[in-house]
Amino acid sequence: MCGIVGIIDQKPVAKNIVSALKCLEYRGYDSAGIATLDKGHLECIRATGKLINLEKKLKKYSLPGTIGIGHTRWATHGEPSEQNAHPHTTEKVAVVHNGIIENFKELREMLNKKGYTTTTQTDTEVIAKLLTLYLDNNLSMKEALETTLKSLQGAFALAIISPMDLDKIYFARKGSPLVIGIGENSNYIASDAIALASYTHQVIYPEEGDWGYITQKNYQIFNKDNKVTKHPIHTLNLSTQTASKGAYRHFMEKEIFEQSTVLNETLSSYLTPEKNELSLPKFIFDKNKLNRLTIIACGTSYYAACIAKYWIEKYAKIPVEVDIASEFRYRQPALGSAENHACLFISQSGETIDTLEALRYVKAKGLPTISIVNVTHSSISRETDSMWPTFAGPEIGVASTKAFSCQLMTLACFTLGLAKTKINQKEFSDLLESLKSISMWLEKMPNLRQECLTAARTLAKATDVLYLGRGTNFPMALEGALKLKEISYIHAEAYAAGEMKHGPIALIDALTPIVALAPNDNLIEKTISNLQEASARGGKIISLGDAESLKKLETISIHTIEIPTVPTFIQPFILTLPMQLLAYETALLKGTDVDQPRNLAKSVTVE
Ligand code: AGP
Repeated sequence: MCGIVGIIDQKPVAKNIVSALKCLEYRGYDSAGIATLDKGHLECIRATGKLINLEKKLKKYSLPGTIGIGHTRWATHGEPSEQNAHPHTTEKVAVVHNGIIENFKELREMLNKKGYTTTTQTDTEVIAKLLTLYLDNNLSMKEALETTLKSLQGAFALAIISPMDLDKIYFARKGSPLVIGIGENSNYIASDAIALASYTHQVIYPEEGDWGYITQKNYQIFNKDNKVTKHPIHTLNLSTQTASKGAYRHFMEKEIFEQSTVLNETLSSYLTPEKNELSLPKFIFDKNKLNRLTIIACGTSYYAACIAKYWIEKYAKIPVEVDIASEFRYRQPALGSAENHACLFISQSGETIDTLEALRYVKAKGLPTISIVNVTHSSISRETDSMWPTFAGPEIGVASTKAFSCQLMTLACFTLGLAKTKINQKEFSDLLESLKSISMWLEKMPNLRQECLTAARTLAKATDVLYLGRGTNFPMALEGALKLKEISYIHAEAYAAGEMKHGPIALIDALTPIVALAPNDNLIEKTISNLQEASARGGKIISLGDAESLKKLETISIHTIEIPTVPTFIQPFILTLPMQLLAYETALLKGTDVDQPRNLAKSVTVE
């Protein structure tokens, strides 16, 4: 997703804007740009590709000016090009934008009729032209922005500078994240507070529909009714040092191997200091009256939700629906009453617009809302009635790894909190003890790296891969397929193993490897039957299992990856590691951009 930065300072801002944009690279982008105001003169430089290309240009034409805005663009309208890169400028304004202006075509037609021709394929350009139209009609910059905002439909986070108003950066947010940073003798605007960690930890979160401006020493916020409004200043404990890869080749590799540590930290955060009892946030609903839980999320977070469905229904005996956020609010879901129906939202970034808008839909219906998020100062965490952090730490790799497993840990604790009065004390203690053992088991796979690399050599040659599993191994298979496709660009699909004979078995041939999630559990004999059906039709099977299940599968497997024998409840945590490494090793062989895969963004803030 696009990243926005604005800085007003006592000294030239260009370098600090680029540094701040680097902290937003994780959001994914394909071009970048910066504009500054110097003695009333607007200067703008843009470049396609990574920020290094913009820096090369800035070396040639240094941008003076102590007020400026910058942008990393994740293309929505118009291909990645210098012409479509932000900032979009006229002689009177420079604009950077994150979001989608849904009525940009009508606005473009209106502007063209008035002689304001547009030259790019972007929706953002119409904002620059609208502001200029109103400035040309002698409106002040503040009036021009107020008027412009009234005609924009869709989602936007904006930062704007103008030679017509030399000491301000204007901003506006609706549907896209934006934060104001308060410095000593400088002020800031950014899409994410992490971009400001090196300059300030004092931040303000404008609310939906807020707009206004910052100056070097002050700021003014207007609400959606254009009335002056105030919001509290939050002090964040952002890590001032931007994440580093350390000895690892990629952030993703580092984050895969951080899991053993962060899973322990997440679990510890939900236990008493003595670590023998759960210590959970208060449930905001009556657990005894709750007879329906809907979990809403996207992508990897959705697959975590699918695993939680098995757990909550089995142990807490509560019916669970899992919904893809982008479908949920448009299908007019039949919701229950606030007394017996709650909704849980899972999001690593806490800014995924599909999930955020689904949350707003549910809140408008009056149901209790809980979130499980990694970025605890995010919109979703702020807008739900109760927020459960995942404590994974900043996840820079676009492909979710440690955030996913920490979502599972938080969901497991959430499940046990709901199940405490539904299962006997011994079963409860056994489940809790199994969570405590996860980090130990993750360290007990000495041959894992080599086994994954061997299997990856087969996957790297494939154009299509199938992932199969039963029980919680089915959503794990969905997640494994997503990991492979999003970082290696190989087409991968996942099926419930029992579903194969209802059609997908037609796909089986010697060229389509099958990754089988087959640890020993109560379904293993049925899983083996499904795999034997596939093998009999030429399927090349890569079996992930424990010693016992692999013994039964070795005759039909071309590769095996061994995990320790663990209780079924924690198998998803253990399978996560080989699943992620399989995708990572395959992507290395394919030579793709593992940390910032093509077309992807870390936080999808457009619908
Ligand atoms: C995960 O590897 C993907 N990058 C993507 O599916 C992600 O999980 C999804 O976009 C949801 O993001 P969120 O958890 O920040 O809401």
